[in-house]
Amino acid sequence: MGLRQDFELFCTATSLRGVAKTVKAPTRSLRCIWTAYVAAMAAFLVTCVCFIVTDYLSYKTVIQTTVVLNDPGLSWPAVTVCGHYPFTESGRQLWQSGQILSPTNFSRMLRAHALKMFDAGNHIGAEEILASDSKRIYYQNLEPDDAEKLSHTAQQLFIFCINATGSFMEMSSGDGCALQLKLISLPDYFNCFQVQATPTIDSLTVVLRVTDSHHQHGADPHEQAFVQDAFQQASGFRVQLQEHDRFPEPTDRGIHVAPGKMVEMAYQPVRLIEVGSPTDACLPETMASSRRVLDLGRDFAYSQEGCLRQELGRIVLKACGCHFADLLRETPPNATHPYCGDYRRGVEPVLRSRACLQSLNLPSLRANLGDTHCLKPCHYHDFEMVSSKTIWRAADWQLHWLALQAKSFRDLAEASERLADLTASSEQRRQAEASIQSAKNSLRDFLTAKNLTAISGPQVLEPSGRDFAYITVRRQTRNTIQKTETLSLSFSALMSQVGGLSSLTLGLTCAFAVELLELCLLKRHRKKVSKASEGCAEVADNSLVPQQLQQQRGMI
Ligand SMILES: *[C@@H]1O[C@H](CO)[C@@H](O)[C@H](O)[C@H]1NC(C)=O
Ligand SMILES: *[C@@H]1O[C@H](CO)[C@@H](O)[C@H](O)[C@H]1NC(C)=O
Ligand SMILES: *[C@@H]1O[C@H](CO)[C@@H](O)[C@H](O)[C@H]1NC(C)=O
Ligand SMILES: *[C@@H]1O[C@H](CO)[C@@H](O)[C@H](O)[C@H]1NC(C)=O
Repeated sequence: MGLRQDFELFCTATSLRGVAKTVKAPTRSLRCIWTAYVAAMAAFLVTCVCFIVTDYLSYKTVIQTTVVLNDPGLSWPAVTVCGHYPFTESGRQLWQSGQILSPTNFSRMLRAHALKMFDAGNHIGAEEILASDSKRIYYQNLEPDDAEKLSHTAQQLFIFCINATGSFMEMSSGDGCALQLKLISLPDYFNCFQVQATPTIDSLTVVLRVTDSHHQHGADPHEQAFVQDAFQQASGFRVQLQEHDRFPEPTDRGIHVAPGKMVEMAYQPVRLIEVGSPTDACLPETMASSRRVLDLGRDFAYSQEGCLRQELGRIVLKACGCHFADLLRETPPNATHPYCGDYRRGVEPVLRSRACLQSLNLPSLRANLGDTHCLKPCHYHDFEMVSSKTIWRAADWQLHWLALQAKSFRDLAEASERLADLTASSEQRRQAEASIQSAKNSLRDFLTAKNLTAISGPQVLEPSGRDFAYITVRRQTRNTIQKTETLSLSFSALMSQVGGLSSLTLGLTCAFAVELLELCLLKRHRKKVSKASEGCAEVADNSLVPQQLQQQRGMI
């Protein structure tokens, strides 16, 4: 009796639409219709809310693209240049003197190992060894320091560097580059250099020396090797634009630059700002800027790829006891922990390392790490680039005078600065005066020259030849395209959608929760009253109900 009464009371008094009619409608059929209506609406509401919540929990995002005009937080990409042909004349002398294992001797060593296998009837083993006759395996058979010595230095590689801000150009030549250069040693290219310029410049031009044109292909007795590289050998450079100070991946992301050509890369900076969500996490900027990645003692800013390669490198080193050359080398390879492809320790260890690497299943490890330890940064830049090329038409005498001018004016400025310094010793003063004098003489030569094409001294380079590569990186605009990711269904939008649906169907509001609470309290109150006065309780109770009903109906 009590329960049913309570239920009826609750139904008549509740703020839910239509529920009162299930009790109060005059005929039975009308009550049925209203009951069906309430049940259908409740089912509809629950289904829709389920859909909306599932949608919310998938954290879909939309990308809003805006253009930041004259961007104050402008960025300039780091330009990584890697020579396809890594060796230099000075490296060749190291082979000659026997200080460093030459490619020819490397190839001989491999073939001797393969022959042994072949004679023992192990054809597959022999084939596997021969597949290692490549530049990247050769790199792994050298001490890290030796590999750097074989390849070019910045002085050998960079002929001219020119940075321009508006129409104001600054050129440096002869001494490598006055720009900040970072050496990176990679198995496919040996020494690569990353040019890190200040973000305020508008264009950067580097003219690089190509070292492979002076000797006939295959004529060098030290270079009879790398049979497997036949389809990967090239002349010229591989160039990659990327965010400042990130570890480069020239093979995956770079483009080719042919020697003897003038190549322009015009880029549009794009800034991406992502939101982190449980399904697609990212690393906040403050955390990303505090992390670094380390390779052969050089550290780089955080990037997802850098972090992945570093972590995988650690895993391989721990599991197989060797350094996998594709990954970062946090500690330099040494005698106890060499590269995995180091044949100098014999064939067996290399084959063991290879089997160990295969058993590790690196792709799945990489996928795991990418979701946990090595998240992508929430905030990063991308450089959408178009490149084009043409023939460079500069004449050697122009370059000669240009380099002379740049050097003389720079020397003048430097020496005058030294002279103005009152603490300088008399020896330093004499030197400064001498350098001013020589700079003045050079300039006078130029100013009074009758025939500009008659130049003395060594040629800077021969523009009609093929022993240089000309690369210009240019910003298309000073505007940045900003792509901001936002959640397509935020929490407040979720609430208002659910609220809208509730009021559309049953008129369900938060007040319903209070009504339920009221029901409970009322019940407890009634129990207390009935316990206190057993007999007259029912009378009191009955008298209470109609009063309250009337009150509430009046409210509705
Ligand atoms: C390479 O091989 C040649 C000929 O066998 C030998 O004279 C030379 O010393 C070797 N160099 C090295 C570094 O092993
Ligand atoms: C431009 O290059 C010169 C040397 O070529 C260098 O001294 C100067 O700092 C550079 N300027 C900027 C803005 O990077
Ligand atoms: C060689 O490298 C390993 C791994 O980084 C290191 O643990 C070990 O101490 C190094 N050995 C020597 C002799 O430096
Ligand atoms: C200028 O010098 C070059 C090279 O010495 C010579 O070939 C050319 O004839 C000279 N031209 C004139 C106008 O003197």
